Amino acid sequence: MTIANELADTIISGSAYADGDRVDAAFREIRANTPLDVAQPENFDPFWVVSRHADIKEVERQPDLFHNGDRSTFLSPRDNEEKVKALTGGDPNLIRSLVSIDGKEHKDLRGIVFPHVTPRAVRPMEDRIREIARGFVDHMLGFDGECDFAMDVAFLYPLRVIMTVLGVPEEDEAFMLRLTQELFSNADPELNRRRAELTPEEMLKSLWETNLELERYFAKVTEKFRANPTKHINSLIANAKIDGEYLNHRQMMGYYIIAATAGHDTTSNTTAGAMWALAERPEMLKQMQDDPALINAFVEESIRWVVPVKHFMRSATQDCEIAGQKIRKDDWLMLAYQSGNRDEAVWDDPFEFRIDRGQNPQIAFGYGVHVCLGQHLARMEMRILWEELFKRLKSVELNGEPKRTISNFVCGPKHVPIRFTAN
Ligand code: HEM
Repeated sequence: MTIANELADTIISGSAYADGDRVDAAFREIRANTPLDVAQPENFDPFWVVSRHADIKEVERQPDLFHNGDRSTFLSPRDNEEKVKALTGGDPNLIRSLVSIDGKEHKDLRGIVFPHVTPRAVRPMEDRIREIARGFVDHMLGFDGECDFAMDVAFLYPLRVIMTVLGVPEEDEAFMLRLTQELFSNADPELNRRRAELTPEEMLKSLWETNLELERYFAKVTEKFRANPTKHINSLIANAKIDGEYLNHRQMMGYYIIAATAGHDTTSNTTAGAMWALAERPEMLKQMQDDPALINAFVEESIRWVVPVKHFMRSATQDCEIAGQKIRKDDWLMLAYQSGNRDEAVWDDPFEFRIDRGQNPQIAFGYGVHVCLGQHLARMEMRILWEELFKRLKSVELNGEPKRTISNFVCGPKHVPIRFTAN
């Protein structure tokens, strides 16, 4: 069987993700009838849609069998593959970051930053992050009862946190935010590089221009941190050596870029979506104020709810079988995190936002050797923001209709208008 065309078209449509319910309904049908099957939307190579929580884990558990970097790591049109290879000198991914590298090279590169982002390593950052969070709570309360929480707080706070950890000065934050949005929100005319609807050709061109602009910026970062090494993550990247050699140009650029972009947009989307959920459920604020331990559950549920990374792709290195389906060597697979986080086999009521779940095995950070490197930092910074905000917030409600970014890749709410009162 293959996945019905209208469902295949829906799960790759940026507008369907912006709608939210539309993509959830499509995945619900896919999980029920064709949970691991082939989608063949026009202009794309066919790909398997891995829609269930257990099957996503099964694929991610076997990184030698399912590679990240042999083909594009995110869904891109058939025509793009050769064009990307021409731009990069043979690599199917424009940016050579951890998510598009396999095997020993991935392990060595991940090992450079990994020890600095474990739960134990991020704990000492708590005081500095709390200071940043308090600053943004003051900033929000300064709006006098109304703001767009996404634009005014959620896009800015995780940006300040990650840039502090990376060692990027505050005056460069606006530049990093713009380029991140150009990378991840390329399909959205409000946020992309041209501020217009783009053809696939123009999208690729924009992505490449953004990449080159980031590379020019980070070339100076390497110079700076080689001359004066610090404990910042960008300094670790600039000075790291594998087998006695500095990282090569594409490894180094890919590393800076993934840390500086994935390091805030994902968390911003989750923070904005959490506020949206809270504004629609006034009783939750009081519950968390009475029992701040519930804030951890709120954070975890908001990650499951928003699923800011909608998918990553893998390709099979050999013929194999998953969930009774015969996968052939070189077949392309979509790990549909949006779907895995709504799987009825894992949650009784996946379409409810609940902070009393107890266990919440959300899979929005992925799984296995590529599992999100920033997960502990992301959780901690969101918890701290809510702890600081809830001490001072009396009520919050929506003040207009929230809007999500048009994208099928890394995205979430871009406008969350709220009305609030403070203590
Ligand atoms: C709510 C926030 C976040 C979500 C939902 C998220 C989600 C993800 C996902 C789904 C992956 C791929 C995992 C896989 O293939 O199994 C990933 C990888 C990654 N994330 Fe995050 N992320 C978040 C925050 C962050 C932050 C704050 C940072 C930076 C410190 C970060 C840096 C990375 C890096 C470097 C990778 C690549 C890891 C690898 O391939 O080895 N992420 N993230």
